[in-house]
This record gives sequence, structure tokens and C-alpha cells, in this order.
Amino acid sequence: MVEFVDGSIDTERQAQGDRLFGTIFFTPEGFADPAPHLDEFLAHTPVHVSAFGGAILTRYEDCRALLRDNRFGKGVDTPENAFAERDPELRAAREGMLRRSAEQPTSMLGLDPPDHTRQRSLVSRAFTPRTIEKLRPRIAELVDGCLDDLADAGTADLMEVLATPLPVSVISEMLGVPETDWPEIREPVTDLVASLEPSASVEDLNLSLDARDVLVRYFQGLIALRRSEPQDDLLSGLIAARDNDDQLSEGEIVAVALLLFAAGAETTTNLIGNGMHQLLAHPDQLAKLWADPSLVPSAVDEVLRYDSPVQLDGRMCLEPVEFAGLRFAPGERVLTLLGAANRDPDHFVHPERFDIARYSGPTPAEPVMSFASGIHYCLGANLAKVEGQEVFAGLVRRFERVEEAGPRPFRQRMVLRGLETCPVTVHPR
Ligand code: HEM
Repeated sequence: MVEFVDGSIDTERQAQGDRLFGTIFFTPEGFADPAPHLDEFLAHTPVHVSAFGGAILTRYEDCRALLRDNRFGKGVDTPENAFAERDPELRAAREGMLRRSAEQPTSMLGLDPPDHTRQRSLVSRAFTPRTIEKLRPRIAELVDGCLDDLADAGTADLMEVLATPLPVSVISEMLGVPETDWPEIREPVTDLVASLEPSASVEDLNLSLDARDVLVRYFQGLIALRRSEPQDDLLSGLIAARDNDDQLSEGEIVAVALLLFAAGAETTTNLIGNGMHQLLAHPDQLAKLWADPSLVPSAVDEVLRYDSPVQLDGRMCLEPVEFAGLRFAPGERVLTLLGAANRDPDHFVHPERFDIARYSGPTPAEPVMSFASGIHYCLGANLAKVEGQEVFAGLVRRFERVEEAGPRPFRQRMVLRGLETCPVTVHPR
């Protein structure tokens, strides 16, 4: 059990922190608006030891330092050290998932050095800022296609016509998935991440497992094709990539392809959806953006901070450690609430304000915690930002006005926080 170094434990405070965590990750109230609960967590129990085992960090500096500390890592998930699952059916389903994942190579997201270093270095060449900038015109073209559909419809669900299809199309294009196959993989890509949530049901877990099977089969087929006829795409690049005579196995290439969808699709969808949501909820900021489109990059950064598409990250302790006043033993877990770190008043001036100019000007605010930090820092951060920038720049360029056209409920998910629907009416210029 993680414990405070000074031996103190305030059971009342502990119960309050556990209640807040439950509200944020398991209740409609938390899904709808976690902000007040994140603020309360940060104010009352910034370094929290849960009665369920494990610790929870909320301060910007603690989250950053933890994620950069290699005495913590991904470790190895086993049924014994997986987060306590009290429902026997859910526990069995989670154990089944662990067994199935153990049969396939792990992607970099689940690896510690040196395996992580090797895999990441082979893939990261496709994600340098220069490579991503070169993709910008194609991304703008894909955005324009979605905006054509939106303009034709007049009133439509922004999630359906733009936020959901765009990131899947962009990753597919990078990997070299033929455009005719994009609709086929869209659904399994969405189902894949259902298992990430602490609140995932048995049905969600099974959906995620089935989706994984579909995608593994699909990419095995495509890899065979690219092996015989390489193209100018990431999949062919990964097949060819060698580092000190080391090559990625087929299983690893499949794992990387699935990871790009799992890590890069719904997250970017949520950046777009949460961005539209916050602009509609703050009409003064919406008007400001339409009046000055040069604020688009800053607005995207502010959306990432204010309404992070990823709210939760975490690590496992790999060796005996004292950290943030806590004593950890190997195998013990610590969670970082990224959305809370983004609202830390020690790091952001008036963090409660949605201010699209926060990242513009000579002294932009500190980097968001939404892409984590350290060796697992999001490989797709530049790509996600470029997609967000092209979307909001495109909306301002094409439409004189965008108005809300109905309620915008959030999904019953919180690790990846985003809208279910976002009905809007657009008025083309
Ligand atoms: C707004 C959108 C996005 C957000 C908020 C986001 C967030 C994150 C976070 C928090 C991590 C760190 C996980 C950890 O510490 O364990 C991560 C890792 C990762 N992300 Fe993203 N991500 C986004 C978009 C993307 C995109 C577009 C791609 C690629 C297509 C991508 C690919 C990855 C990969 C490959 C990793 C694993 C890196 C590693 O383990 O070394 N992400 N992302």
C-alpha cells in the first residue's frame, strides 16, 4: 500500500478524495463537467492516497516530475496488480483481456526502456515537426471535404461529419490504408479504446477485444501487400525500418498501427469536439476567434488545456521510491489527473478562464499537460495540433457564423473525454 513518508493518514480527507475521484470518473455529473471537482481535488487533496490502493497526483509539477521519472514506468500488468476490480464478472473480463494482450507484442505505449526506446525511435521519424508540416496541405484538403458536407447539410452533427471521420482518415492516409477501406475500419477503431475507461462494462471490454481482432487481421493483410509492393507510406516505412540491424517484427508493426488509431483517433476527435463546445459555450471567445483567425494556434492550445481530451494517465512503481512525500513499493500505481494539472493556479493565471489568446503574444502560458511528459510524451502532439488548427481555420474561413443547434451531451467516458453529439448550423460566407 502506498503510504505517506511521515506516516500520516487523514481518513476523512482520503474518503473525500476517493468520493471526488468517483464523481469525476463514474457519474453523469462528472462526465458533464469535471472542472469543479478537479479544482476541489487540487485544493483539498493534491497528493492523494486512495483507500483502494495507489496514489493520485493533481499538481502540474508533481504530474510532470512523475511522468519524467524513470523509476516509474509501465511495468507488467497482471491480474494481481491490475486495479482492484470488485465486480467478479468485470474482473474476469479484464483478466481475459490481459491474457489476450499478452499473446501479442506490446506497443511502445506499454513498454519501458530499452524496448520502448527502440520502438519509439523507429516510428518517431514519421512524426517530426517537418514531416507533419508537409502533411498540412493534405490535412487541409481532408478538412475541406468534411466542411463541404457540413455546408451542404446546413445543420449537422459536427462529430459525425467532421470530428470523428477526420482523424481516422488522417492516420489511414499516413499509414497507407486505401481510401476505399476507411469506412470499414472506422467502427473498430472507435470500439478499440472503450476498454481504457475505469467505468468500462463487460460489453465495452468485449467490443474492444473484437475490434482488436478485426484490426489485427486487416493490418496483417495490408502488411503482406506492402511487403511485396512497397509504397510511399508509413506502413512500408515501418517494414523497411532498420536500426542497428534490428527490424520491427510483423506483430510489432501491427501493434504500432493499432496504437496510432487507439492513441490518435478519438483523442483528436475530442480536441475538435471539445473545442467547438467551449467556443459555443463562450460566445465572446467565439467572436474573438472569428474576428482574428491568427489566434487559431493559441485557441487550439487553450482547448487542450481547458478541456483536455485525455484526463488520466499513470505509471507503476518499478523500484522502491520516495516521491511527493509518498513511499512506493514496486508494483504500486500512481495516477496523474492531467485535467487537474492543467488547472493548477500555481502554473496558470486564472486557470478557470477560457482564454483563446493565452498562448499568443510574447509570453505564452506554460505547455499543457494533456500530452503527458517524459519518454512517453505524445508522439502525435504536433499532428493533433495541426489537425485542430486546420479545422478551426477552415471553419472561420468558410463560414460567417457557426451556431449551436441542440444539446451537446458528453460521452459516458472520462479517460478520453469528448462529446457524443455536437449539432451546429453553419452560415457559409
Ligand atoms: C489531442 C489529441 C491527443 C492527445 C490529447 C494525446 C495524448 C497523449 C498522451 C497523454 C500520451 C501519453 C500516454 C502515457 O504517458 O502513457 C500519448 C501518447 C501517445 N500518443 Fe497521443 N494524444 C493525442 C493525439 C495523438 C495522435 C494524433 C497520435 C498519432 C497519430 C498520437 C500518438 C501517440 C503515441 C504513439 C503515443 C505513445 C508514445 C509513447 O509511448 O512513447 N497521439 N498521447
